[in-house]
Amino acid sequence: MKMLVTGSRGMLAADLIKKFEGTCEIIGRDVHDFDICNRGLVIDEIKKEKPDYVINCAAYTNVDNCETEKDLAFEVNGEGVKNLALGCKETGSLLCHISTDFVFDGKKDVPYVETDTVNPLSVYGKSKLKGEKNIQEVLEDYLIVRTSWLFGRAGKNFVETISSLSKEKEVLDVVNDQTGSPTFTVDLSMAIKALIDVSARGIYHVCNSGICTWFDFACKICELTGGTAAINPVSSDKHRRPAVRPGYSVMDCSKFKVKTGLALQPWEDALKEYLDQ
Ligand SMILES: NC(=O)c1ccc[n+]([C@@H]2O[C@H](COP(=O)([O-])OP(=O)(O)OC[C@H]3O[C@@H](n4cnc5c(N)ncnc54)[C@H](OP(=O)(O)O)[C@@H]3O)[C@@H](O)[C@H]2O)c1
Repeated sequence: MKMLVTGSRGMLAADLIKKFEGTCEIIGRDVHDFDICNRGLVIDEIKKEKPDYVINCAAYTNVDNCETEKDLAFEVNGEGVKNLALGCKETGSLLCHISTDFVFDGKKDVPYVETDTVNPLSVYGKSKLKGEKNIQEVLEDYLIVRTSWLFGRAGKNFVETISSLSKEKEVLDVVNDQTGSPTFTVDLSMAIKALIDVSARGIYHVCNSGICTWFDFACKICELTGGTAAINPVSSDKHRRPAVRPGYSVMDCSKFKVKTGLALQPWEDALKEYLDQ
């Protein structure tokens, strides 16, 4: 089996490539040699390599910057994904695309299932939804994995930010009115491989088990890393950011569990594993 992984220098891709190493041929490409916005190049390269799977980890992921860089966000997260879909259509490669909990508006108070109505609040969420829709317009068969709140060794992430700030500052304000599921990129990579192994098609929600607010997450990080700052719960209104986030973006992962027989470990255990690495 042959895999083409885009955005290969990113946080998720690093662990995903490790997970597949030794099990198949893997080609990792990033923006310097495989800009997904370059339609001609994308289609030519997919036709040349003829991978069984294209796993798209490439994205414009800076949620706040997307608000001011709207065109670029849609170019990468929308049109770029369409280019990959067009390439896959030519070769019959299966496109596995990573999407986000930010396609939801967070107005529910029970976990989101795959068929729930989408209504993104931010430019990032809208651009990621456009990517999903572009895939569905071009391809009959695809795999879209929606996930949330990623942390992994190969990227700047919330765990590292809180871990260092909590040793430098006396008080840290962290929002306590956004609820979701932190997800470890090693666990997500295992889940993506499991979905590919069982030839899953369609949309799947995949996150570590359990839910928390960013405040809860920060408290646990502090506890496990010996941070000395007092963590102060604040509302999103007090801690305004350019992009509006959903208040509740917990995703129901039962469809994944039924398809693969797996459930990802609780986020607290995943965090301990991450910190022990
Ligand atoms: N991080 C999260 O909390 C989170 C949550 C839910 C879903 N997701 C989704 O999960 C996927 C992986 O996220 P991640 O956090 O691992 O992302 P990441 O670390 O930001 O990696 C994305 C990679 O894509 C590259 N890239 C950007 N524009 C590109 C282009 N035009 N062509 C090719 N490559 C390009 C980036 O390069 P540069 O760094 O040079 O720009 C980077 O190497 C994304 O689809 C993201 O939307 C992430």
